[in-house]
Amino acid sequence: MGKTLITGGAGYIGSHTAKELASRDKDVVVLDNLSYGHRDFLQWGEFEEGDLEDRAFLKDVFARHSIDEVVHFAAFIAVGESVEKPRMYYENNVRNTLNLLGAMQDAGVGRIVFSSTAAVYGEPQTPTLAEDHPLSPLSPYAWSKRMVEQVIRDYGKAYGLKSAILRYFNAAGADPETDVGERHQPETHLIPLILHAALGIRDSIKIFGTDYATPDGTCLRDYIHVTDLAEAHALALDHLAGGGDSDIFNLGNGNGFSVREVIDMAREVTGREIPVETAERRAGDSPALVSSSEKARRVLGWRPRHADVREIIETAWRWHRKDLKR
Ligand code: UFG
Repeated sequence: MGKTLITGGAGYIGSHTAKELASRDKDVVVLDNLSYGHRDFLQWGEFEEGDLEDRAFLKDVFARHSIDEVVHFAAFIAVGESVEKPRMYYENNVRNTLNLLGAMQDAGVGRIVFSSTAAVYGEPQTPTLAEDHPLSPLSPYAWSKRMVEQVIRDYGKAYGLKSAILRYFNAAGADPETDVGERHQPETHLIPLILHAALGIRDSIKIFGTDYATPDGTCLRDYIHVTDLAEAHALALDHLAGGGDSDIFNLGNGNGFSVREVIDMAREVTGREIPVETAERRAGDSPALVSSSEKARRVLGWRPRHADVREIIETAWRWHRKDLKR
């Protein structure tokens, strides 16, 4: 059995997935340039430090390791930043993925699990989103993911590349054993920012937009525990290795929580004051993103184990207190 290459394996979802795959006795190679990834998240498998921009490096990695399959996380992920700096997003997320796919093809590696996003759906036309909901990305970030989805599907038709495209809803929470967790610099995600406010690292949490057409006017999101996402990657790899068809899978719990509800839940979990300010809408945000993940359940046999938002926030809280020594 060959190895599993994880690009972006020193990042948030990538490191949790490295742990999950290693626990299943897979031989893991993490590729990361450590621009946003963390050296202390490299706890499983071998490490290759380098950039997907560097095609000679990629060729060399595939030459030195016997790689059977790839899980591709490496990408820039901030919706707001992508609106300001689209070039950065298209060059890293699209062009560098083309480099990876090219290197895979040259090395005869034919299976990939790709990190896509619920942001490809844009404005929802139904209360929950299934994979066949129309796509209308609202930001360069979402477009970059949509474009790569198309490239992967075209390579599948022409070259036989087998793929599982995973559209994550809002990844949240942390490894229950606190080996790894969520640490972005700068932090832009709701739950870590709320917990920073609870810890007094920031003065308050800003609510971006209170005039959306949602029950309390703030955006609805479907928060999915990061270890449940990690498990879905393992199942997707097994599906492809077992001869399963290429497909697209939503990964979420199917329940929408508003920004205000998440803040209230965090107050309960932490028992701390969490001061709130209201602010303008953030460019590129969808009012509501709530999944139907029935296909992942049916085809992959995926069952989220930490579906309760309270538990998601609790694991994040444990991790943040450990990581920030508070
Ligand atoms: N929010 C605030 N204040 C903040 C930060 C966020 O009100 O300080 C709001 C956002 O407006 C949004 C919600 O909290 O309504 C969640 O925001 P995040 O930044 O945590 O997550 P996003 O929904 O923007 O994006 C995340 C991932 C993307 C992915 C998307 C899919 O970062 O990669 O989920 O839903 F595409």
